[in-house]
Amino acid sequence: HLDALVQSKLQSVGQDSPSWRHSGSWWSEVQMGPPDPILGVTEAFKRDTNPKKINLGVGAYRDDQGKPYVLNCVRKAEAQIATKKLDKEYLTIGGLAEFNKACAQLALGPDNEVLKSGRSITVQTISGTGSLRVGANFLSRFHTVAKDVYLPKPSWGNHTPIFRDAGMQLKAYSYYDPKTCGFDFKGALDDILKIPEKSVIMLHACAHNPTGVDPRPEQWKEISALVKKRNLLVFFDMAYQGFASGDIDRDAWAVRYFIEQGHNVVLSQSFAKNMGLYGERVGGFTVVCKDAEEAKRVESQLKILIRPIYSNPPMNGARIASTILNTPELYKEWLVEVKDMATRIIRMREELVGNLKKEGSTLNWQHVTDQIGMFCFTGLKPDQVERLTKEFSVYMTKDGRISMAGVTSGNVGYLAHGIHTVTK
Ligand SMILES: Cc1ncc(COP(=O)(O)O)c(C=O)c1O
Repeated sequence: HLDALVQSKLQSVGQDSPSWRHSGSWWSEVQMGPPDPILGVTEAFKRDTNPKKINLGVGAYRDDQGKPYVLNCVRKAEAQIATKKLDKEYLTIGGLAEFNKACAQLALGPDNEVLKSGRSITVQTISGTGSLRVGANFLSRFHTVAKDVYLPKPSWGNHTPIFRDAGMQLKAYSYYDPKTCGFDFKGALDDILKIPEKSVIMLHACAHNPTGVDPRPEQWKEISALVKKRNLLVFFDMAYQGFASGDIDRDAWAVRYFIEQGHNVVLSQSFAKNMGLYGERVGGFTVVCKDAEEAKRVESQLKILIRPIYSNPPMNGARIASTILNTPELYKEWLVEVKDMATRIIRMREELVGNLKKEGSTLNWQHVTDQIGMFCFTGLKPDQVERLTKEFSVYMTKDGRISMAGVTSGNVGYLAHGIHTVTK
């Protein structure tokens, strides 16, 4: 009886035809998307039964036994936090205040004039990705004079969709020279010179992903001067502070130098790699402003922007990072542990080159030790990568990038043998 009633109602408004009804699914028009290139590598790795298999796709640190590594200072901070029996109320929109302060101090240096004069604002974000996205949304809403964001060629794969989804337009400047597997300094300067004024330029503060190629200090100085001349807004992505050289101050040098030179930069930070807090999602987004009054206005708008996205950030990881940064003994221990991680990676670069030579390779592998940070752009061609995966069960992205963090004393010889076999 009810059905008949509904039917007659629909008839009366002319909406009873089958074409109006959906076909039992709301999403029949949704096309299958491609898998994420890096997570796809891990999937293939998991399916492989070769006991010698190596996964060099994913960018997460492993110890020399190839195991995920939780820092001692993190364990200790967790224990300290547990004894405090803290509540789990919401954080404020901008996150944990003592974390934000320490986060900015770590990047800028505690004595930075910017912090003393209060002309910057830092909000806690959902790791580096969340920071970049809050930044991209902020630019999209308030940097209305230019929508173009210039990324280095190549850049971290997620930069493009982060800025595109926020409504910015992506452009690129030369960065990597495949001939030398190094920095294309001249190409970068030539391209930056042509960037329209007020555009946004993305700079990786250290340990450039995916190439492992960083400018030298003299080169940074010239880039800074040119960027100033072109009046560009600098967006620094610092996802690896301490992880590149093992020294947090040295890795932050470019950011601090640019600020000293008068660039009012925006900065994204992540604690995923340098504290091994990947899944805790701890990061910060900082805007350096003209003065404290401007910083207050920017802060108010960042809150308005964040509130409808995720309301306020998660607290656990921020408490851990904040405890480490604000407790002198833990901070000291952390500096040693970051250095140890960076040193292990640098040693693996040397061992990989040493083993390639031992295998009899006559190719020049110097770029492997020249490059820095988590990743190495080996220069392997796609067909060589394919052979390495098929014949040796070594998994990596098609662009020839390997995560040095996956190389250990136990597998470096096997890896070198594989690389030599496919490149000789
Ligand atoms: C250049 C760069 N930026 C940002 C990130 C952000 O990572 P997360 O969101 O895990 O902090 C990464 C991670 O791989 C990265 O390599």
